[in-house]
Amino acid sequence: MSNNPVKTIAVLTSGGDAPGMNAAVRAVTRVSQTYGLRVLGVRRGYAGLLKDEMSELAPSDVGNIVERGGTFLYTARSQRFMEKEGRQEAAAILRSHDVDALVAIGGDGTFRGALELSKEGINVIAVPATIDLDLACTDYTIGFDTAVNTAMEAIDRIRDTSTAHERISVIEVMGRKAGYIALWTSIACGAEEVLLPETYDYNDRALIDRIKERVAAGKKQHIIVNAEGIGQSESLAARIENATGIQSRATNLGYLQRGGSPTCKDRVYASLMGEKAVDALLAGHRNRAIVHLDGEFKDIDLAEALNMTKEIPENYLALTVNLVRHFHK
Ligand code: F6P
Repeated sequence: MSNNPVKTIAVLTSGGDAPGMNAAVRAVTRVSQTYGLRVLGVRRGYAGLLKDEMSELAPSDVGNIVERGGTFLYTARSQRFMEKEGRQEAAAILRSHDVDALVAIGGDGTFRGALELSKEGINVIAVPATIDLDLACTDYTIGFDTAVNTAMEAIDRIRDTSTAHERISVIEVMGRKAGYIALWTSIACGAEEVLLPETYDYNDRALIDRIKERVAAGKKQHIIVNAEGIGQSESLAARIENATGIQSRATNLGYLQRGGSPTCKDRVYASLMGEKAVDALLAGHRNRAIVHLDGEFKDIDLAEALNMTKEIPENYLALTVNLVRHFHK
């Protein structure tokens, strides 16, 4: 490693926080230090980078954070960084600290920002962290596992009280554009209906008719998982109550899905991804995305990663229907 061109790296977290971001920062920091690299922690994502909010991280600075949700580097969204001048400024700030590469941990917006920054001559490695699982280049994103487990536990609790009162519950989970949290939790919790932004046809009539059919067959309680991107859970619950005569309630799980101590999987995978980011830099790779594909952690070209597309798996969707086709009352 003595002729490794990378001597100083910067690391930041950006966009919506995700449980496991701390584990990733810790791994980037400690693995880098194992190879004698200097690590600068940038506070408040790209917004903080533009204000030169960075300082050297000692190994002890990343102690006692692996088990914590949120991000100890803080996070933000930056309007200024979306402009070319902003990114030129950010690149100049990184150069003024002799930074050879930036590790940017976050979701789609963070990845796109990283790609644009690479066009200003900064070597960037993007690490996927978003509870939404909506990056096409990877089948795992840091934080998704914790978020779906948190949402699953909450839905189970709502089911208990909903069943006790023989009510219908509409439960809104996060995912403005992506329905993965809704899809996974609906399978895990045996939801009667799941509404995804990618597939919902906004035909409330058909949805209400299916519920009425089940009610006519004697079913007294329903769980309907609704993604944030569709929203309107309160009014949907009111329409269902009017149509069925069964008390219906809406619960929005909101930000509680983003917080909390990361699961073991999120801690371990985030650590492996952090390590992979440093490995890529030490191997001389430039402008890469760290991904988990076909059971393996890899680094792939960042521009190619952002050109990839993925769809909600049809078999998962079909399963949500088949698992509750023969219901108990
Ligand atoms: O972290 C992902 C996400 O939770 C999306 O599901 C949601 O649309 C967005 O972040 C909301 O985040 P904020 O309110 O912090 O902008």
